[in-house]
Amino acid sequence: MQQFDAKIEKDVNIEPKDWMPDDYRKHLIRQISQHAHSEVIGMQPEGNWISRAPSLRAKKILLAKIQDEGGHGLYLYSAAETLGISRDELIQQLHDGKAKYSSIFNYPTLTWADIGAIGWLVDGAAIVNQVSLQRTSYGPYSRAMIRICKEESFHQRQGYEIMANMMNGSAAQREMAQDAMNRWWWPSLMMFGPHDSDSPHTGNAMKWKIKRQSNDILRQKFIDKTVQQAEVIGLTIPDKDLRWNESKKCYDHGEINWNEFNEVINGNGPCNKQRMSNHIQAHQEGEWVRKAATAYANKNKQLVNQ
Ligand code: 3HC
Repeated sequence: MQQFDAKIEKDVNIEPKDWMPDDYRKHLIRQISQHAHSEVIGMQPEGNWISRAPSLRAKKILLAKIQDEGGHGLYLYSAAETLGISRDELIQQLHDGKAKYSSIFNYPTLTWADIGAIGWLVDGAAIVNQVSLQRTSYGPYSRAMIRICKEESFHQRQGYEIMANMMNGSAAQREMAQDAMNRWWWPSLMMFGPHDSDSPHTGNAMKWKIKRQSNDILRQKFIDKTVQQAEVIGLTIPDKDLRWNESKKCYDHGEINWNEFNEVINGNGPCNKQRMSNHIQAHQEGEWVRKAATAYANKNKQLVNQ
């Protein structure tokens, strides 16, 4: 325990074979697996627009982005597996409703502008959180974050480009972009989790340097950098209480609807049921692929051992 504490104190990463307290291990399995589930479930709302992208260029970019998200899920499942849990168990926890995934992916994508809003706001919020997690104390999670952040910056720019193009377009396109902004702004702020005072896991997360910055600090960072980006392309942030606070050097903002947040994370958001049933169906239909891949890997192992 003393060695573990000393490493945390000196910012030395904890690695899979190092001794670690059980609660640290459990905390990481919970967070990393929920992060992995979020990446994979997040492919669904965007996948909804692949066949309706407005140009071949937009379609190619969207396909590549969604494929990246699948890859992020895989890095993160691998990181979670180094803590001594199998991927099957993690997926089962998701299907049984024991593991959460990000609230944001329970909202529908109604127009093409929603793909812009997801890239710009949702990936933008994810980056603010993940840049901080690059310095998390668990080695495999930290390294996965460094790689993921590089790709997320492209995603954020892809989304901003869609929004900027629409704001330069017709009145109907501008209206569509503003409507997407109105629907995605508040759920994006909810991605950072409850206020610090209501967040049961933040205490241990900060003590063990799993989290480097708290939910509220990261949410504030996201707001401060996004307001200016909205202004540049002429979008209005749907918050009448949003204003610059000169003494604090940051934006004050209105209160988040925590009832809505709690409903969504407890399975009652607009798309929760659809997202889970799609995932379960895809998992069941993919069983033969997993079996074939494992059979091939096992055969190779036998050949190597001969
Ligand atoms: N959606 C769903 N559940 C949430 C949530 C959200 N936005 N925010 C908090 N929660 C849940 C927590 O998981 C926890 O539930 P549990 O006890 O059943 O696990 C409960 O609400 C209490 O919240 P805490 O603040 O105490 O929980 P954490 O300390 O874990 O903080 C977090 C929440 C900030 C989301 C943290 O877990 C975290 O930083 N996770 C890693 C980042 C992540 O998961 N991002 C997903 C975003 S999407 C993404 O990255 C994909 C990209 O391609 C767009």
